[in-house]
Amino acid sequence: VSKVTADMSMSLDGFIAGPNVSVKFPLGEGGPRLHDWLFNSDSGADADVAQEMFATTGAVILGKRTFDVGVRAWGDTPFPAPSFVLTHESRDELVMKSGTFTFVTDGIESALQQAKNTAGEGDVRLMGAEVVQQFLKAGLLDELQIQFVPVLFGDGVRLFEHLGNEQKELEIMRVIETPSVIHLRFRVLK
Ligand SMILES: NC(=O)c1ccc[n+]([C@@H]2O[C@H](COP(=O)([O-])OP(=O)(O)OC[C@H]3O[C@@H](n4cnc5c(N)ncnc54)[C@H](OP(=O)(O)O)[C@@H]3O)[C@@H](O)[C@H]2O)c1
Repeated sequence: VSKVTADMSMSLDGFIAGPNVSVKFPLGEGGPRLHDWLFNSDSGADADVAQEMFATTGAVILGKRTFDVGVRAWGDTPFPAPSFVLTHESRDELVMKSGTFTFVTDGIESALQQAKNTAGEGDVRLMGAEVVQQFLKAGLLDELQIQFVPVLFGDGVRLFEHLGNEQKELEIMRVIETPSVIHLRFRVLK
């Protein structure tokens, strides 16, 4: 059965992007530091985690901001899979090389239904802080992998905000430590 997951590269002080996110700086100013483990690592373990992330993705749900700042840099869908953009703006489908962007204006449950319908055995992967927050809050996120990057940003886009004041328990599923990052996988307890 397909799971709802997210992999977020995060600074030690909790930012998944630096300040001033824009098309020029999709991860904010200084933000590319968060993806050194993906693009500038000599570690086989980092490569294995990246490979696993691609291999298990059956569909993607992303926020409109992640789409807006990312699409030109990707030149494609972010993963080779059908991709559903949560937005308030109706738009026609956008066909790319390895997947199609569908713009969903009727909320997270609808996006999830559409993503699950196309994901097959693969996971539904979330992208964007606001998107992850809404799924967490609604109890719809099954697993979360944080790539903990040993850097302090001081400012930027936080992942864990707007979650209400209810405690949420997670269970540690896996810890992989490499010279550049700690890959921490959690199951979100329902
Ligand atoms: N570090 C990492 O691993 C990682 C991973 C992914 C993304 N990112 C970064 O995260 C940043 C973006 O995150 P973000 O939290 O600012 O934005 P986001 O989640 O990508 O997008 C938020 C936008 O999506 C639309 N939206 C979200 N939920 C909706 C809903 N239920 N119904 C209708 N529309 C909805 C709204 O746009 P409209 O109202 O304009 O339609 C909202 O302003 C970018 O810098 C991106 O590069 C980092």
